Amino acid sequence: MSSPSKSGQWISVGTLERLDGGGTAIMFDIDRSKFLSGFVIKRGDQVYAYVNHCPHNGSRLDWVPGELFDESGEHLICATHGAIFEPDTGKCVGGPCINQTLIPMAVKLERNSIYVKVPPRYCCD
Ligand code: FES
Repeated sequence: MSSPSKSGQWISVGTLERLDGGGTAIMFDIDRSKFLSGFVIKRGDQVYAYVNHCPHNGSRLDWVPGELFDESGEHLICATHGAIFEPDTGKCVGGPCINQTLIPMAVKLERNSIYVKVPPRYCCD
């Protein structure tokens, strides 16, 4: 995982080569003291970033670090109680937090590098 970030700053989390457009995710720390992380995924040509924090009860989604997709590969899934989320919107479309959403992070690409901006509320400062 990448190092913790700074509030409101763009942080580099990796390169596009690490995302295959399928189930691969780049995981990164937001605040290690709170075990809070984020992840970046790619679907088609678009890259998305979310706080790794389920809206149901706050668990991280992945049951194994970096394993975020269900068996179909179409949805993100929370390992704790099985909520499923649309990868492109973060909206829960099944499970105990239906219609709630993951917390998105802004993404920008510069050449092959991926940068995300962590919402200040979730940062480590
Ligand atoms: S904590 Fe994610 S579905 Fe319950």
